[in-house]
Amino acid sequence: MTEAVNPINLFEYEQLAPKHLSKMALDYYSSGAGDEITLRDNRAAFERVKLRPRMLVDVSQLSLKTTILGENLEFPLLIAPMAFQCLAHPEGELATAMAAASTGVGMVLSTMSTQSLEAVAGVGHKFPHSLQWFQLYIHKDRGLTRALVERAYAAGYKALCLTVDAPVLGQRERDKRNEFTLPSGLTLANITTISGLNIPQAQGESGLLTYFAQQLDPSLTWRDLEWLQSLSPLPLVVKGILRGDDAARAVEYGAKAIVVSNHGGRQLDGAIASFDALPEIVAAVDGQVEVLLDGGIRRGTDILKALAMGAKAVLIGRPILWGLAAGGQVGVSHVISLLQDEMKVAMSLSGVAQIQDIDPSLVTHNKK
Ligand code: FNR
Ligand code: LAC
Repeated sequence: MTEAVNPINLFEYEQLAPKHLSKMALDYYSSGAGDEITLRDNRAAFERVKLRPRMLVDVSQLSLKTTILGENLEFPLLIAPMAFQCLAHPEGELATAMAAASTGVGMVLSTMSTQSLEAVAGVGHKFPHSLQWFQLYIHKDRGLTRALVERAYAAGYKALCLTVDAPVLGQRERDKRNEFTLPSGLTLANITTISGLNIPQAQGESGLLTYFAQQLDPSLTWRDLEWLQSLSPLPLVVKGILRGDDAARAVEYGAKAIVVSNHGGRQLDGAIASFDALPEIVAAVDGQVEVLLDGGIRRGTDILKALAMGAKAVLIGRPILWGLAAGGQVGVSHVISLLQDEMKVAMSLSGVAQIQDIDPSLVTHNKK
């Protein structure tokens, strides 16, 4: 394989990753659950849907600007919540936050971050319009959970993004084989300081899977959303929905946005590709809340397809980690700008000058 020196697309960034990461980190970042059927299908789903471009539209003035929950974005993109970013680069989530804020896209910080939520919020505050959400995992220790929500609100996060597809951790077999754990010096920056908890070293098992089994609450149900919303005025975003009826429930229980996601193929292997689940969810929600999508987005044309199918914005995961590993903030910013440039070309060639002009007729719906 010839190695790309100046990556010109997100796949070339992925090819560079082994050079910058330990085997344990690379396996953790790239893995899907089980046979990785869902991981592969997330990509394949985008390839099954085709664009139906319109000709002779004035595309001399393009705008990619949009809003999400009333906040401005330069481009309909957020960085998905991803744990343990200091495995990729010493600055970890701080570099990611700098890149997001300086390029005008959103960032969702994971509960399991290796930089504290206050430090990451501090980066956002240096920019006039940064958009940061806090992703929440609910620990069995509800006092700990309450403290996280109160801290996220106090620090200025604009929404709470509750991940609902992980009552237990998916079985990522490479993590089990590697007995995944955090190298010494890295901690759960939001949690270790207040509770002493950290990712354990587990015999013959992923330490993260063990942490989930011991600390996170698998008894969570829709009714807990009411309690969660009583803890702060932050709008609730529900991440990890794959069915229309669940989407309708999320709306009923107060969610202000939904992220259609299968966690990047890392949870239930064999689950539907997130892009394939999108139309049913858009129909069920019927415009009541904003719908976002993640999983397998690697090209500007993927974003165009997702928006044509009714998503308000998309999130990307792994390519951000590949950019972070290759070049810290600069690498992440480059990944974002590559996608943005691709999106501009895709819009120009499809006859749409602004995001509001993207409509369902731009894509084929008879997937073969
Ligand atoms: C994740 N994801 C995730 N989701 C979440 O809600 N909380 C988390 O802490 C994490 N952690 C995490 C770590 C790593 C290494 C990856 C790759 C993913 C899932 C993530 O938010 C998102 O749903 C997927 O990554 C999107 O798919 P792509 O873009 O990676 O294909
Ligand atoms: C993951 C968890 C932390 O996907 O969400 O690894």
